[in-house]
Amino acid sequence: MGHPETGWPTPVSAYGRNPETGTHPSSARTLFAEPARTRATVDNHVSNASLCIGPGWPGYLPDWLGSNLSHRLSGGVRSAVMKVGIIGSGHIGGTLTRRLCALGHDVTVANSRGPESLAGLAAETGATAGTVDQAAAAAELVVVAVPLFAVPDLPAEAFDGRVVVDANNYYVQRDGEIPEVADRSISSSRWVAGHLSGARVVKAFNNIQAQHLLEQGRPAGTGNRIALPVAGDDEQAKRMVMDLVDELGFDPVDAGTLDESWRQQPDTPVYGTDRDAEGVREGLASARP
Ligand SMILES: NC(=O)c1ccc[n+]([C@@H]2O[C@H](COP(=O)([O-])OP(=O)(O)OC[C@H]3O[C@@H](n4cnc5c(N)ncnc54)[C@H](OP(=O)(O)O)[C@@H]3O)[C@@H](O)[C@H]2O)c1
Repeated sequence: MGHPETGWPTPVSAYGRNPETGTHPSSARTLFAEPARTRATVDNHVSNASLCIGPGWPGYLPDWLGSNLSHRLSGGVRSAVMKVGIIGSGHIGGTLTRRLCALGHDVTVANSRGPESLAGLAAETGATAGTVDQAAAAAELVVVAVPLFAVPDLPAEAFDGRVVVDANNYYVQRDGEIPEVADRSISSSRWVAGHLSGARVVKAFNNIQAQHLLEQGRPAGTGNRIALPVAGDDEQAKRMVMDLVDELGFDPVDAGTLDESWRQQPDTPVYGTDRDAEGVREGLASARP
């Protein structure tokens, strides 16, 4: 098995993960507050060329995802177009920008260097390049995919009331000492929620390699479909994220509350192991602090 975040081959621990990670490369809808958009809206997006379909689409995607989008655009819209903000344009943020744009969602992506630095990703995918404030303000759901140490630098008020997907992990080598997270007094997502105190934080996407998130989504019902744990205190927000996980091609598994989300952190059975739904449920239950 490779490192869950890089895919690089590494020796594994009892839980299937390298103790790592000096190897890190890092150097849903305000819940239905807006009416669900209809196909007419989708068509409008298309005719205005404002949907995320860049010239690069869909070369890097499996056929069924292309079919999914065709299905969406040909009238069989499976779910409403959602305004998504993505904070971070690296492995995970870039992957989710690509995947969510290919699914027809309306994505604004931001990073630390500003919108100009995102011109390439925007041109490739059709996403809008924005500032962090713009990405959060425009969004019904915001994914935060940055090194954990950067979370306190984010403008917390911009996330107030938003469903925020915390895709982050804590690695001391990268993120420095965060004692209460390091000693597992609190989960890393609880720590994130403490900084983004007005947000409806849901933990997801933290336990899968970016490359697998890009390439290994499969239609519901496929055998051995990879499952992803989703944890949060706000049931409606969690449901929204679980639906998005399913739309991306993975089986969502309810992993409990934010305080229970340590069960999907690094060094647990579900971390980087690409289990199916039954395996994820078993792994969450057998995790040890
Ligand atoms: N890599 C994986 O496979 C993987 C899998 C699951 C979870 N994760 C977790 O997801 C998070 C992101 O990992 P990654 O691998 O995607 O990292 P990455 O490739 O290093 O990308 C990090 C991104 O965060 C942005 N960023 C940093 N500080 C910021 C700030 N203050 N405001 C806005 N954006 C900021 C960076 O901006 P610039 O581009 O301007 O530098 C960059 O785009 C981490 O917590 C990681 O543990 C990673």
